[in-house]
Amino acid sequence: MNRRRPLVRPVTPALARLREIVRENVPAHLGTYLRHLAQASIVVGGVATAGCSSSHFPPGEELLAPQCVSGQWHALDDIQPATPHDSIARFANAGFAPPSGPLEVLGTECDTASDPTTCASTIQELSQNTYGNFLMTSDGDDVRIHATEAELLALLGPIDTASEALIRVWQAGYVITCDDTSRAGVREVVGGFEVIATRTSGGCGSPVVVERYLFMVATDGTMTELAREEIERMEDWGCEGRRPEGLQPVTAAVPVDPVGRWFASMARLEASAVDAFHGVADELRAHGAPDHLVEASRVAADDEVRHHAAMTRLARRYGAEPLPAEVVPHPVRPLYAVALENAIEGCLRETYGALAAHRQAFAATDPEVASAMTAIAEDESRHAALSWEIAAWIEPRLTDAERAELSIARARAFSELRAEAETEPSPRLVDVAGLPDASTALALLDHLAATIFA
Ligand SMILES: [Fe+2]
Ligand SMILES: [Fe+2]
Repeated sequence: MNRRRPLVRPVTPALARLREIVRENVPAHLGTYLRHLAQASIVVGGVATAGCSSSHFPPGEELLAPQCVSGQWHALDDIQPATPHDSIARFANAGFAPPSGPLEVLGTECDTASDPTTCASTIQELSQNTYGNFLMTSDGDDVRIHATEAELLALLGPIDTASEALIRVWQAGYVITCDDTSRAGVREVVGGFEVIATRTSGGCGSPVVVERYLFMVATDGTMTELAREEIERMEDWGCEGRRPEGLQPVTAAVPVDPVGRWFASMARLEASAVDAFHGVADELRAHGAPDHLVEASRVAADDEVRHHAAMTRLARRYGAEPLPAEVVPHPVRPLYAVALENAIEGCLRETYGALAAHRQAFAATDPEVASAMTAIAEDESRHAALSWEIAAWIEPRLTDAERAELSIARARAFSELRAEAETEPSPRLVDVAGLPDASTALALLDHLAATIFA
């Protein structure tokens, strides 16, 4: 089972400088950094995954749904911690943009602290520098993170309520959703609880797959996978590029060969990125953004035309026709929608896409792929830097509530991208196209999470 380990990273001068580089929006610097990181990744170590499968899921009507209010899971309402605390808060930090606050809080944070301001800033600092799903307690001046399995179990004591069993599974990196017991539910059984939860994986060379899991969570907190099955599969893969709203799913026949299929899919994403950047330019102009951002977006659209041509050539080199990109146009959207798309498709996916492209340029054994990816990586680095520049213009114009929402959406999108990167691409793609294998992709993403995205 693959669990995200929480880690705490202090802000070193080098890290502060790196963040400054990104926030200064210096495209050449970002490109150089991503190129060096890609080069280093060729020797990066691995992350193991393992699995088993069967299909013995209890029917939905035998399960209790998680306790939810207005679509938000209230996990802490029904817990019995080993000892009482002034407050218990639940946080998720996927690394891409720090969480703006807890998902929920039981009690009052820093209620009995001698210095409530210091206590509040300790909570903020710890929550922003700890990754994964975790709980945090405050008692007087004592603020503690409960992020590892052992820390969580020490906090909860015996797993003796349904919510505690759900929290145990959530903390291990699985998704608990509301209102659908086929995706998230719990029932008491002899010796503990059975829990159903989901997880998304795939992408970056494979279809995106949602699997549901059945776990036994014993009273002592031991968690055992009893069953796993695929419940959703989306034929929309590829980690690179900016996808516009309105991009339609693939309906054309998908090439069989994994290398041809990857380039055919990339050609589709590059074509859709042309629409995406024209949309960005139109919406930025409509919202009064500076001319240089509008112009840079038009230039980026022209870059994407070249990328589409390059990916089409490579798809044909591997016997595949490019998949068509059908995009339904939309009118100018409110600023928040523009900011959200830019944060996810630009700051997150284009930054990672640029890094992956740099790596491909170094690692592809097909010289034509290496040459195409060298040019694309430089362009994508500029696009990534442009996204950060657009974010710097848009985000101060949002309301506090919108910025908080954006931060949650970013964290979710990072989790999704990380889950996509967990599936191993075909070995031929790793060889011929230089695609990072799963362990390298995860290492690269986690590195970005701790540096640029932090
Ligand atoms: Fe591109
Ligand atoms: Fe791009």
